[in-house]
Amino acid sequence: MKMAMAARASLGSLARASTSASARRVTTRRGAVPAWGSTAHPGPLRSVLGPASTRVYSTASAVKVERADVLKDHPHNNVTELIFEKIGRKLHREVDHPLGIIKSKITEYFESVHPGEFELLDDLHPVVTAHANFDSVLVPPDHVSRSMNDTYYVDDSTVLRCHTSAHQAELLAQGKVKFLAAGDVYRRDSIDCTHYPVFHQMEGVRVFESSEWEGSGMTGTQYAEKELRGELEGLMKHLFGDVECRWVDAYFPFTEPSAELEIFYQGEWLEVLGCGVMEKQILETAGKGDKEAWAFGLGLERLAMVLFKIPDIRLFWTEDKRFTSQFKAGQITEFKPYSKYPPCYKDVAFWISDSFTENNLCELVRGVGGDLVEEVKLIDEFQNKKTGKTSHCYRIGYRSMDRSLENAEIDAIQETVREKLASELQVELR
Ligand code: DAH
Repeated sequence: MKMAMAARASLGSLARASTSASARRVTTRRGAVPAWGSTAHPGPLRSVLGPASTRVYSTASAVKVERADVLKDHPHNNVTELIFEKIGRKLHREVDHPLGIIKSKITEYFESVHPGEFELLDDLHPVVTAHANFDSVLVPPDHVSRSMNDTYYVDDSTVLRCHTSAHQAELLAQGKVKFLAAGDVYRRDSIDCTHYPVFHQMEGVRVFESSEWEGSGMTGTQYAEKELRGELEGLMKHLFGDVECRWVDAYFPFTEPSAELEIFYQGEWLEVLGCGVMEKQILETAGKGDKEAWAFGLGLERLAMVLFKIPDIRLFWTEDKRFTSQFKAGQITEFKPYSKYPPCYKDVAFWISDSFTENNLCELVRGVGGDLVEEVKLIDEFQNKKTGKTSHCYRIGYRSMDRSLENAEIDAIQETVREKLASELQVELR
């Protein structure tokens, strides 16, 4: 489990909303890790749906994912009904939603620095080939992020993208040289207030011609790195005001050198994005071997939680008017909690089986309790010396963002969780 987290983090825990460098975010980097608006619309950036030369202010969504597209009778299919229901939401395309507001704010920054040059793509299909998601960005064949424990597979060669980097290669091959790609991404993971199996990322790429760095006294890589740093520090100031930035070395399969950017915000260093100079091989495959490029990726929830002071990642999904009516396009305003409903905790203890994983447990619990599940936490673990069996005790926290829960309702959910644990995860309840 630790291994899995470590390796997954190197793809990017930065994508996440979580701030603490907790166990889940052990990384390969030489330090600790992380991830990631005021125009009302995607902004004057060119849209994927509009003619390349036209400035489009808003577009209808063209992408529609049907149930049968992702819930298939295939031995590798691990997409759940709950996940399918989220695919069509496209929160990042809602102009009055915090995620849409942050997306616009970032887009607006690139538009102000490079008027008319960066193209925004925010309606790319979330179902991609495993090749696009992994191979095209040089994720090694044995990388743990490819496992069915970490990624949602539709079939053995198709996945729900686990990062927006999945689109880099295809967009480069289409001839795009300056673009932003925003979208929903999917990862099987544990459950707490900053982790949700669906979240949103924004990718940025800029390609340079050799004429741009020649005469600068720098190599192409040095030039791209310098440009990248300036660009992203500027973005942080645009989002957070006059904020102090620092760079930390990192590792990503798709960039070399790679780095993470941290900002000093409200008394602490906060990781906000991952980036680097694009690996030559990716450019070569796209027929751009003589060029250089920078790339970055950030998690929109992470930024929105900080900027809007949103305490729980599940709130982004609520349709409660008391949440949605608080936000307006172009404005970053502090979230006003409308009410705090009490949590309800239930413990469950069992002897694990060899195939047991925490991600599978979380998926099962979420399958029964949906968004009422706030947290699934291992609170006790021991081994019976005689039998060699390992016992886990998990505390499940249930809480609604919108109403008080009835005890009986939670008891019934917990009972179903227990039954399914025994029948579907082959664990032995204690
Ligand atoms: N794909 C990474 C993740 O999901 C984020 C990322 C890091 C994207 C570095 C990039 C990059 O383009 O250069 O965490």
